[in-house]
Amino acid sequence: MELLLFSVVMILSVARPGLSSTTSSFNVMQYGAVGDGSTNDSPAFLKAWKEVCQSKSQASHLIIPAKTFLLRPLTFRGPCKPKNIYIQFSGKIVAPKTKGEYSGSQINTWLGFNYVDGLSISGKGTIDGRGSMWWDNPCLGKAVPGTKCRPPTALTLYRCNRFELKGITHVNPARSHITLTSCTQGKLSNLRLVAPGDSPNTDGIDISGCKNIRVLDSFIGTGDDCIAISAGSSAIRISGITCGPGHGISIGSLGTRGEIDNVEDVTVRNCTITETLTGVRIKTWQGGVGYARRIRFEGIRFVRANNPIIIDQFYCPHSTDCKNETEAIKVSDVTYRGIVGTSLTKEAIKLSCDQNIGCSNIVFDRVYLSSAVAGQKATAFCHNAHGTFSHTKPTLKKCLLPN
Ligand SMILES: *[C@@H]1O[C@H](CO)[C@@H](O)[C@H](O)[C@H]1NC(C)=O
Ligand SMILES: *[C@@H]1O[C@H](CO)[C@@H](O)[C@H](O)[C@H]1NC(C)=O
Repeated sequence: MELLLFSVVMILSVARPGLSSTTSSFNVMQYGAVGDGSTNDSPAFLKAWKEVCQSKSQASHLIIPAKTFLLRPLTFRGPCKPKNIYIQFSGKIVAPKTKGEYSGSQINTWLGFNYVDGLSISGKGTIDGRGSMWWDNPCLGKAVPGTKCRPPTALTLYRCNRFELKGITHVNPARSHITLTSCTQGKLSNLRLVAPGDSPNTDGIDISGCKNIRVLDSFIGTGDDCIAISAGSSAIRISGITCGPGHGISIGSLGTRGEIDNVEDVTVRNCTITETLTGVRIKTWQGGVGYARRIRFEGIRFVRANNPIIIDQFYCPHSTDCKNETEAIKVSDVTYRGIVGTSLTKEAIKLSCDQNIGCSNIVFDRVYLSSAVAGQKATAFCHNAHGTFSHTKPTLKKCLLPN
């Protein structure tokens, strides 16, 4: 009897290992990080990550203290054992000062998280991509005319589910600040993403192939799209974003080189967009297949934005090699509601839709856009756009066609 009882207790404690230690904590300093801003601390971070990721606790913490850590390109790989991983980030992480320190690694990404579920990165820390050397020459070596090079994105999450990014400041990435690819159930909030308005391709947040993502209460002032939502994304909620400088908030581009691309259920709400090149934009290439549908822009304020509202089914940024095709990405059920502000360009609304596929059920309700330029009148342009409007200025009468 006594022996039997003993074995029952044993089985219980083996089967429920999380009971005795539900949390554990690992500080990068204990794994050899120096934090002087010039020593390569990547090996130390990787060692600490290994412990964090393999910990038997339910929650595992990686502590990055208030020092400056130089990291070379680095991937934090999962899957990990703990249900939740918390990165508490107080200091500063800086990228290498020379391109030489990037070579030998695949350089799509500077800091990557792959296949990590339950990840939370939060704190008052700063991630500095030291990107300016890439902006003049995006190649690792000498720029070769006619070849395209892609500098590394600062932070990438790839196939991460249940994640949170909170409070971090990101400055001067070589390319995009944050890229989310094939992730689900994410929340990004209270972020500050900053780069000069003329820095090339420095998107704020790129979202592709993701589902159930919320981006809340953040400041994004950068050189390209503040937020770009592209192929395979659905259930994306954006709210409380202050954007500018930058290229505004974009869906797309979709359908490049005849691709099949779908985006649906996107809400952009309570945002202020200031002095951007474009405002809220849906951009699709000729020849693509798929749809962009159920998209809502509500409670948006524009301050001296260029081209505040755009749907462009003839997207062709470099104006070469673009033909009009029979296929196009279908754009439907797009709502603009409660939008106010000023436009620097004369054309405040531009709905440029394909002949065959077109745009349908485009709804405008309480949209008031005026010109930011004294003596200039804001106008609207429509081509094959179908929908309804009420309380909208400039008027869409004789512009928007009935559904
Ligand atoms: C709107 O966004 C601002 C940040 O720009 C935020 O402070 C405010 O709480 C938001 N309001 C709502 C109702 O979400
Ligand atoms: C495609 O069609 C649109 C609308 O008719 C027109 O504005 C545009 O110039 C055409 N593009 C090309 C490359 O023919």
